[in-house]
Amino acid sequence: MVADFMDVPDHGHEPVLLNAVMKLLSPRHGQVALDCTAGRGGHASALAQAVMPGGLVLCVDVDPENLAYARTRLGQWSENCRYFQANFAQAGEVLQAAGVSGVDLVLADLGVSTNQLTQDSHGLSFSVDAPLDMRLDPELPTTAADLIAKLPEKDLADMLFTLAQERWSRRIARRIVQTRQTAPITTTRQLADLVRQVVPPEFGRHKIDPATKTFQALRMAVNAELDNLGTLLGQVPQFMNPGGRAAFISFHSGEDRLVKHAMLEWQEKNKCRVLTKKPVLPDEMEIQTNPRCRSARLRAAEFVAPADLPPP
Ligand SMILES: C[S@@+](CC[C@H](N)C(=O)[O-])C[C@H]1O[C@@H](n2cnc3c(N)ncnc32)[C@H](O)[C@@H]1O
Repeated sequence: MVADFMDVPDHGHEPVLLNAVMKLLSPRHGQVALDCTAGRGGHASALAQAVMPGGLVLCVDVDPENLAYARTRLGQWSENCRYFQANFAQAGEVLQAAGVSGVDLVLADLGVSTNQLTQDSHGLSFSVDAPLDMRLDPELPTTAADLIAKLPEKDLADMLFTLAQERWSRRIARRIVQTRQTAPITTTRQLADLVRQVVPPEFGRHKIDPATKTFQALRMAVNAELDNLGTLLGQVPQFMNPGGRAAFISFHSGEDRLVKHAMLEWQEKNKCRVLTKKPVLPDEMEIQTNPRCRSARLRAAEFVAPADLPPP
């Protein structure tokens, strides 16, 4: 049976491309793994299983609830796992705090987990009426409602176009500005209804909700997703051990482009070998059972000691 988009699986989230990730990272006993997006601990528990005995798993997440869940899930390896409520843009500081100078395995499974989409507290979904928040990190100062209330019309339109390629960005931005002059836009339903009224009706018949791109762009802006990924990518070569492997799962073309270009740059500088000429995609069977994975793109690289590289 095909799973519904908003079905919440066991553990609140189904790890995406798990077999491909494990194959590309090829974890071994005794290795140090950094899961930059521990989430519900699906990938992290597979990594823990593979690096124990003797290994270490460092779990990072901005969302304290998800991190707490991952900690419980990885309980059997508690002596060899450490948890950091932090942004992966601060991966270097996390490693310093953990007293670790180099890691063998890095995973970043970007975006949000299924339970975060359905939880009212996050206000991430146009299918669940909730306060328009969208912060994955509750300590961030600015919510989606703040951006909707304050951004000038042009900045709103640019955000929708740049982050989600929303072709109706100007119309949506204009309507937001008109609406907020009479009443603040503070809930997901208000925003979703507003977008649905602006996007021409023929597009409403398509499978995706007309509000999809607006919600995606706002979430990416609130959580500075591209900036954080860029910062992480800038740090990875500095902390990879020779022979270490790094894998990134993106759900957005802008993220995948950043990962692809970073890996090519590392390779040009003789820091790594790219293991995935093309991104690895989920197969039909995974898409049937977990429709949320359909836009996933996995890329991986192996960091090598300079002597291991062929001459240029
Ligand atoms: C797709 S889920 C990861 C799911 C996880 N791989 C699993 O198997 O359960 C993405 C997670 O990354 C976290 N996250 C998003 N951006 C982050 C960032 N910049 N730093 C740390 N965690 C982040 C989210 O809070 C969420 O828990």
